[in-house]
Amino acid sequence: MSPKQLAEAVNKRRTFAIISHPDAGKTTITEQLLLFGGVVREAGTVKARKTGNFAKSDWMEIEKKRGISVTSSVMQFDFQGKRINILDTPGHEDFSEDTYRTLMAVDSAVMVIDSAKGIEPQTKKLFQICKMRGIPIFTFMNKFDRDARDPLDLLNEVEETLGIETYPINWPIGSGRQFKGIYDRFNRRVALTHPADEDNPYLPLDDDGNVKGDNPLANDGEWQDALDEMELVDVAGNQLDREKIAAGDQTPVFFGSALTNFGVQTFLETYLQFAPAPSDHHTENDGDVKPLDPEFSGFVFKIQANMNPRHRDRIAFVRICSGEFDRGMDVTLERTKKPIRLSNVTEFMADTRENVENAVAGDIIGLYDTGNFQIGDSIYTGKKDIKFEKLPQFTPELFMRVTAKNVMKQKSFHKGINQLVQEGAVQLFRSYTSGDYILGAVGQLQFEVFKFRMQNEYNSEVVMEPMGNKTARWIDPDQLDEKMSSSRNILVKDIHDQPLFLFENQFAENWFKQKYPDVKLTAKL
Ligand code: G4P
Repeated sequence: MSPKQLAEAVNKRRTFAIISHPDAGKTTITEQLLLFGGVVREAGTVKARKTGNFAKSDWMEIEKKRGISVTSSVMQFDFQGKRINILDTPGHEDFSEDTYRTLMAVDSAVMVIDSAKGIEPQTKKLFQICKMRGIPIFTFMNKFDRDARDPLDLLNEVEETLGIETYPINWPIGSGRQFKGIYDRFNRRVALTHPADEDNPYLPLDDDGNVKGDNPLANDGEWQDALDEMELVDVAGNQLDREKIAAGDQTPVFFGSALTNFGVQTFLETYLQFAPAPSDHHTENDGDVKPLDPEFSGFVFKIQANMNPRHRDRIAFVRICSGEFDRGMDVTLERTKKPIRLSNVTEFMADTRENVENAVAGDIIGLYDTGNFQIGDSIYTGKKDIKFEKLPQFTPELFMRVTAKNVMKQKSFHKGINQLVQEGAVQLFRSYTSGDYILGAVGQLQFEVFKFRMQNEYNSEVVMEPMGNKTARWIDPDQLDEKMSSSRNILVKDIHDQPLFLFENQFAENWFKQKYPDVKLTAKL
């Protein structure tokens, strides 16, 4: 590719994740987006996979035909001149540190909220990671075809709970059975849920914001309410501020209904006007890597173990940060400084197979891995050593005591644990006094993968004893007195020998803070 072609290709990439609490409608929206992109032809396909209603063979057949892997973690399609990569952030039982790390590989995020419920715990956690990265965050208030909370109330909650300014791009006119449409402040039109003429669902607005010509909603209470609410927002709300949006300090808010596909296309079109192209990435050794640097570089943000015992391979997901990837190219693995040929690669491509041979900055590639890669690894071409900034560690919330079932097999047990911990599959802690192993994770699945891989890759059967949910808080070693520990705040140390308490619950933490007001407790991310 010439530099000009590279620039064109990179500048059309839009790589983002959809974050939400389970059941807010992420799958439904993703499916609508794929429909617009022509990747799936029928609504219900992604959904059917999720609920397991779709015969697996049919599904694989679709993947083969379309040349993409929708079941996988990355979905790619073209829309209005842009190449879109959507990275999946699994919820439910699949939730894990990988979910968080995936957010390290995107340039923006879309937060989907169930408008009857508002901000839910998982949305909040994922939001905080995006906020920490300072990437633009867009909000889709979903399910307005059902009775929803007051839109002002929803915006208020976003501002107060998440600490980000809101700017409503559009405004709902009613909700539930009385959901009449959306007043689109940005595109200067009203979209009707039930237009008289199906081919013409929009009412254009004049310069004063009034409907040009006849307004079928003019006498509806919902219309008047929407106008009153918007007036409030105009007077007391925030101004649209592109700089703040780019820095993740203001979120443009859209209202709609994914299920009835109302407001989703407008959302996508408008979103693409704000969403950033691939951004620079910080390195530890030499400033920022720019996406248009001709040398290839990228980092591993996720390793997916194959749960099928007959296929021991795993896939290492790489975010390309600069240059262009070509199948069969040789790269340097920064950690070992050894060359590796990238021949066995999965890409997550749209509806043709033509593109499969290369990918550019902003794209994600999946490398078949037999144990070469670790989470956070940097790879690059060229003479300049590139080491991307370390991926953050996340505060685990679930804990398990772990021991080897067979005491004679301690060696493989230790080897397995050490490697899996290094790889980032789980986090390791040790009891402060006894040195017993305690594993920490953000999602249950991490333990299951750990157990499975210990057995299959290290031939070590493990016994796991759940300790349940805990709040991990680090404490300055100088302030530590072992007597502070109790069954409600267990004292452990992390792999760097730093002490921390695992609090049973918020109550136990508050109790501790009252008892030791001078002791400083800190959380990681
Ligand atoms: P998730 O991926 O975030 O977990 O959510 P998902 O899209 O699976 O949606 C969760 C449920 O909410 C589904 O209902 C889905 O149909 C519904 N839903 C999503 N968007 C909307 C919307 O805009 N309006 C309404 N009314 N419902 C919506 P379900 O009963 O769990 O599944 P199903 O039986 O409908 O398939």
